[in-house]
Amino acid sequence: MDQTGTIEDLYREEIMDHYQNPRNFGKMEDADASYHDYNPVCGDEVEMQAKMESGTVKEAMFTGKGCAISQAAASMLTEEITGKNIKAVIAMTKDDMLKIVRINPGPVRIKCAMLALRALQKGIIQYEANKTKAAK
Ligand code: FES
Repeated sequence: MDQTGTIEDLYREEIMDHYQNPRNFGKMEDADASYHDYNPVCGDEVEMQAKMESGTVKEAMFTGKGCAISQAAASMLTEEITGKNIKAVIAMTKDDMLKIVRINPGPVRIKCAMLALRALQKGIIQYEANKTKAAK
């Protein structure tokens, strides 16, 4: 980046970097939680997967295809939640996601950033429900 670049440019570059070189991309064979979701408006999709241990996310991975923000957000999210308490992940909000992507994508494209978080939360909620059922 040249000297005239702003902090926003830097964050945008980070998004592009995650989009072009996604972290934790691929299928997890032995995932505890798995959820595929898509944005009906554009068809972009993600599948979030996670492995749990002692109430925390031990490992997270994703696959998907779509716009730079949706895919970069999924990549950034897998890094952010590794080692995090499951309940804290379920409680994450739009504001938390904005802190992770570090740009304000605007009211329409915020949905792109939220796709991965919503999929992940649905997967974890499903995992928790199955665990409760199995314990009965
Ligand atoms: Fe489809 Fe971003 S344009 S999720």
